[in-house]
Amino acid sequence: MDTVDIIRSKRDGAALTKQQIRFFIESYTAGDTPDYQASALLMAILWRGMIKDELAEWTAAMIESGERIDLSTITAPTVDKHSTGGVGDKLSLPLAPIVAACGIVDPMLSGRGLGHTGGTLDKLEAIPGFEVNIDNDRFLQILSEVGCAIVSAGENLAPADRKLYALRDVTATVESIPLIASSIMSKKIAEGTDALVLDVKFGSGAFLPDPDMGRRLAETMVELGEAHGVRTSALLTDMDQPLGMAAGNGVEVTESIETLKGNGPDDIVELTLELAREMLALAGIDKDPASVIADGSALQKWNEMVIAQGGDPDPAAIPRATDIRTFDAPGSGFITRVDARKVGIAAWRLGAGRSRKEDPVSPIAGTVLLKRAGDEVRAGEPILELHVDDPGRVDHALDALQGAFEIGDAEPGPRKLVLERIGS
Ligand code: URA
Repeated sequence: MDTVDIIRSKRDGAALTKQQIRFFIESYTAGDTPDYQASALLMAILWRGMIKDELAEWTAAMIESGERIDLSTITAPTVDKHSTGGVGDKLSLPLAPIVAACGIVDPMLSGRGLGHTGGTLDKLEAIPGFEVNIDNDRFLQILSEVGCAIVSAGENLAPADRKLYALRDVTATVESIPLIASSIMSKKIAEGTDALVLDVKFGSGAFLPDPDMGRRLAETMVELGEAHGVRTSALLTDMDQPLGMAAGNGVEVTESIETLKGNGPDDIVELTLELAREMLALAGIDKDPASVIADGSALQKWNEMVIAQGGDPDPAAIPRATDIRTFDAPGSGFITRVDARKVGIAAWRLGAGRSRKEDPVSPIAGTVLLKRAGDEVRAGEPILELHVDDPGRVDHALDALQGAFEIGDAEPGPRKLVLERIGS
């Protein structure tokens, strides 16, 4: 098998054969195919796409490049959620304990943030002592005792994706539907869950701003999941404006705990419950997820999970900023839109996110909205807090906020969070 022939076939628009796919994924994972050839193939895939069978084979080869977690000792239905990421998207934090309190086991393997979108693991690590690197035996033990755990995917889960994703990041080949779909689904299928709900986001704060692209990605991932025996559905959801008020690690954990106490912002509560309903439907469990917030059992599950993962469950233990500045309304009227990407970049520049994989993140830095779309404001009134860890970063963060708030004379209509559901 010759790698140049494989690249040439894809460059000329052919579908890769099973043998070509297996050869490439195996030899690239083993380090036998150099990055320059893999880059050429990725760029050819970005331009030419993949047909259904080809993508199924590519994804299967990625799954088989590493271990598949065996959840067969767990008797309850296992269902996970995966989001394509966005600003203020902390939904995994309240969602896992909510569905666990309803009888689902949620084996959540999560990632870190890169760029303006935050990562679940970075948020959880704002809790003193919280451990995300947990071996498989302990992961299974927490799942059977508590019902949910949120941990880092091990080195051996879809290692082909680990290498390919890092290469895509530096070769402008991230924005390809087959490459994104196979990357996400190889990890989720290898995780061993029975069922999966995908939260596919569109809008300024999302990875794919265009809803039509989001829809195609969702359909592709649902098909891949079903083809591998994982019951899968997707919600196409709005990420044009930040979710909730907080963007940043510690501030998002605090907002998540408030949500579990019944005091969450409307949009966080609505979308979390919508995703929980979808997960419960896939598990065949007839229960109202709002009831486990109301009776305190979801908060109890959260505390159990935090303690099981070595963290301090006392919300007061989460480090907080002592230096809080404000960003003021640039005019008077109704806020008609808050640009999610600009707010995400401001939080990131304050230190909540990283530019390179190896950078540390601040548990303190972030932004908290004081006003959002629909609120009436006066020029000069504080509309956003900047939670500062490093004062040298403030000016750069304030620059990102220029034009983030659109202000008009008329009150905007209600925001529709879920555009569409995809799946059988
Ligand atoms: N998240 C992933 O895991 N992979 C992608 O390709 C994009 C987002």
